[in-house]
Amino acid sequence: MKAIVVTDQAAGTAGMKLVERPEPKAAINDVVVQVHASGFAPTELAWPSTWTDRLDRDRTPSIPGHELAGVVTALGYGTTGLSVGQRVFGLADWYRDGTLAEYVAIEARNLAPLPGDVDFTVGASLPISGLTAWQGLFQHGRLQTGQRVLAHGAAGAVGSMVTQLAREAGAYVIGTGRSADRQTALDLGAKEFVDLDHDALEDVGKVDLVFDVIGGDIQKRSAALIRAGGTLVTIVGPPEARPSGGLAVDFVVEADRVQLSEIVQRVRDGRLRTHIGKVASLDDAVAALNPTKRRKGNTIICVHR
Ligand SMILES: NC(=O)c1ccc[n+]([C@@H]2O[C@H](COP(=O)([O-])OP(=O)(O)OC[C@H]3O[C@@H](n4cnc5c(N)ncnc54)[C@H](OP(=O)(O)O)[C@@H]3O)[C@@H](O)[C@H]2O)c1
Repeated sequence: MKAIVVTDQAAGTAGMKLVERPEPKAAINDVVVQVHASGFAPTELAWPSTWTDRLDRDRTPSIPGHELAGVVTALGYGTTGLSVGQRVFGLADWYRDGTLAEYVAIEARNLAPLPGDVDFTVGASLPISGLTAWQGLFQHGRLQTGQRVLAHGAAGAVGSMVTQLAREAGAYVIGTGRSADRQTALDLGAKEFVDLDHDALEDVGKVDLVFDVIGGDIQKRSAALIRAGGTLVTIVGPPEARPSGGLAVDFVVEADRVQLSEIVQRVRDGRLRTHIGKVASLDDAVAALNPTKRRKGNTIICVHR
């Protein structure tokens, strides 16, 4: 099968190559999925799991990409809940070969059914940003209706999901980002917007939940705004600040079939929008994943039509 591989961590995305690889086999509880669309987060090339296995042994050449939408072509021993021919989408294991390939072997529990009226490209754009927002807000942040949420990077991949899901859950959302992102954040449901380059973050007053996607000084200043009993949720590594009288939580997103289904249902009925910036074929993926200028929105690789 055709697949993108990486072998050299120092080379970053420039080291991606389109090569022939053996088709994967389904292990216990796996399915094999013919990948129709794949998502890729550039930061995954910095994660140890791209380069070594769970025992820290070199696992290159590894196939990057962890978001996918496609069709099940084979079931492993003991696999339940999915069938051959079924449309699915989900989040692949960080330590296994990923989704920038014609086929991927993946545990069935990492997938959810993809309804027939949702495009594969849309399905592949949802798992990381949607699940990260969901888990940060509702599991780690224990968001309640009426609470005030500071959603950093509100026009970005995760932040746009945070803004929409928090607003739908009845929160008062204050989005942040660059000045050019103001209207996007307001359109997504933020009630206020803080331009981090020009406005004073401190002017927003007290909040119950900070969803941090930036870290550093912005995270530290945000922690000081959290009410007693509130939470700082960060997705960019161990918290560098702790709210007084509150919690600081960092986490890495996990696959969850029920949550994937909740997310895709919201996309179907128009409550949740995803931003796809560029769609390219697998043959053009190396160029598409090495853009010459900053690109807004997810890049999705259309592997099979
Ligand atoms: N722990 C996890 O499970 C997990 C899951 C998903 C993502 N992440 C991490 O979370 C981070 C965000 O991911 P993403 O996919 O949402 O990225 P993204 O799409 O680039 O969104 C980040 C947003 O924040 C804005 N921003 C960043 N720094 C800013 C600053 N100093 N001032 C104003 N705006 C700023 C960006 O604006 P510009 O584009 O203009 O810079 C962008 O709109 C990444 O580091 C990613 O690796 C972690």
